[in-house]
Amino acid sequence: MTDGRAPLRVGVAGAAGRMGQAVCAAVEAADDLVLAARADPALGVELGDVLGDCEVVVDFTRPEAALDNARACVRAGVHAVVGTTGWDVDALGDELGADRRANVFVAPNFAIGAVLMMRFAAEASHHMARAEIVELHHAGKLDAPSGTAARTAALMDGDVPIHSVRLPGLVAHQEVILGDVGQTLTIRHDSTDRTSFMPGVLLAVRRVGSLDRSPVVGLEHLL
Ligand SMILES: NC(=O)c1ccc[n+]([C@@H]2O[C@H](COP(=O)([O-])OP(=O)(O)OC[C@H]3O[C@@H](n4cnc5c(N)ncnc54)[C@H](O)[C@@H]3O)[C@@H](O)[C@H]2O)c1
Repeated sequence: MTDGRAPLRVGVAGAAGRMGQAVCAAVEAADDLVLAARADPALGVELGDVLGDCEVVVDFTRPEAALDNARACVRAGVHAVVGTTGWDVDALGDELGADRRANVFVAPNFAIGAVLMMRFAAEASHHMARAEIVELHHAGKLDAPSGTAARTAALMDGDVPIHSVRLPGLVAHQEVILGDVGQTLTIRHDSTDRTSFMPGVLLAVRRVGSLDRSPVVGLEHLL
C-alpha cells in the first residue's frame, strides 16, 4: 500500500466455484486488498465462521444461498457485494432499515460491456416497435432467464420476451434484437472469459462501504 492504509480484508463466498476462484485471484493480485477468507461448503468452510475476519464479502454462490448470506453479512457488520443471480433482492431491501450495520451492493452483471448493452437497449426501446432478448450461457448455469436478461428487460419499454440457451462451450452472452418496419437492430455482448467481471467486482468491493443507501442494484450506479 502506498497511502498508508491497511489493505481491505475481503472474504469470498463460493470460493471454490467458477466465479469465486476468479474473484480470489483478482483480490490476491490487488495491492489494496487482502484475501481474508475463502468460504464454500466444498472447502468445508462456512461463511458464518469467517465473517469475523472480513470487512467485505463477495458472494458468487447459488440462488438459494445468496439472501441468507447477505443477511448474515449485514448482521455481522460486514459489507456484501453480491453477484449471485436468481434470488429476490426485494426481500432484502424490505429488511434493511436506516439502522443497517453494513451495506449490500448487488449486480446481475459486473462486465462494463454488459452494463453498456443494457443502457443502449433501454435507449433503443424508446424508438423501436418491439424487442426480444436471447441470452446464452454455459451448461452449468442454474437460473434461467439470466439475471442480466431480466434486468435488461426491466429497463426496456414494453414486454420483452427472453429466450435462454444453455450449451457447453459458452460463457455468458446476450443479444437484444429490436425490430421495426423494414429494419432490425441487434445489440450483442459477449463475456468470453470470467476475467471480464473482475474490474467491476473490485470496484464494488472498494466502494460498497461508502454507499449512501442500501441495497444498491446495478454497476451503473458506481460508474
Ligand atoms: N454478476 C455477475 O457478473 C455474474 C457473472 C457470472 C456468474 N454470476 C452468477 O454467480 C453465481 C455463481 O456462478 P458460478 O458459475 O461461479 O457457480 P458455481 O456453481 O461454479 O459456484 C458456486 C459455488 O458456491 C458454493 N456455495 C453454495 N452454497 C454456498 C453457501 N451457502 N456459502 C458459500 N458457498 C456456497 C458452491 O459449493 C460452489 O462452489 C451464479 O448465480 C451465476 O449466475 C454472476
